[in-house]
Amino acid sequence: MNKKIAVIGAGNVGASCAVYLAEANFADIILIDVVEGIPQGKGLDLTQAGPVRGYNSRVSGSNDYKDIAGADIVVMTAGLARKPGMTREDLLTKNAEIVGMAAENIKKHAPNAYVVVVSNPLDLMTYHMQKVTGFPTHRVVGQAGVLDSIRFRTFVAMELGVAQTDVQAMVLGGHGDTMVPLPRYTTVAGIPVSELISAERIKAICDRTADGGGEIVRLLKTGSAFYAPAAASVDMCRAIFNDEKRVLAASAMLTGQYGIKDIYIGVPVVLGGKGMEKILELKLDKDELAALQKSAATYKEHLKILGY
Ligand code: LAC
Repeated sequence: MNKKIAVIGAGNVGASCAVYLAEANFADIILIDVVEGIPQGKGLDLTQAGPVRGYNSRVSGSNDYKDIAGADIVVMTAGLARKPGMTREDLLTKNAEIVGMAAENIKKHAPNAYVVVVSNPLDLMTYHMQKVTGFPTHRVVGQAGVLDSIRFRTFVAMELGVAQTDVQAMVLGGHGDTMVPLPRYTTVAGIPVSELISAERIKAICDRTADGGGEIVRLLKTGSAFYAPAAASVDMCRAIFNDEKRVLAASAMLTGQYGIKDIYIGVPVVLGGKGMEKILELKLDKDELAALQKSAATYKEHLKILGY
């Protein structure tokens, strides 16, 4: 195939991304990891699944960043995952080192790539990636809003006993405790969710969404979620590859929208062939806007720890 996606990190999220990307059948995939043999082994294994799964994507593995050369998109998944009792922000300093090193290499070997960041703490790592690569902000986006929104959609569907795919939802803000699920923008086949679910239950679903990653960490005990985060990342890669102009929540650099600037945070964007092509400014009510601004203020504080 003449398109190439590099996935940095061949752990649970990276390897699951490679599975979904291979099945999407639109690019060859290079998995990069520091552990010798792991990306090579997983790559070969996945390529061998192609004949029965009906894809021709080749998945290869390497321990050397020079093999990301020519990648159209880089998906950044490497980094520590949280354990029970940890917040995503507890990973800040260690993962900043890993993301910083990857960013230097992406800048060097794949200077024209679009970058989808998945490493946590997500909004801060996306900011760090953009600053270290120096790439234009439309080429660096963070995956979190898609994940948080699909969790919200799933919980609404479970509550009503209806198809998950018929639920649309929007979750803004940082990918952490301060995220902002927006029931006002949540519908089931076009029907406002408020007509179908009581205010009390909607509040409970919002809370479960905000704790969605934590719920899975507590169940897994040794790490965090990976299937849904990977699926969400691949949705974003497809939108960029196929110039789909998808309207998705993603972590984007704000330049004054919602009264916030110089920070990456989850907002609705148009994602297409030029990456993050547009930020949509919703008419948020007072409480929604305050929650988004509070989320941004929290991350501004965390960025100081990284020296920004
Ligand atoms: C989650 C982690 C991956 O939300 O951030 O599951």
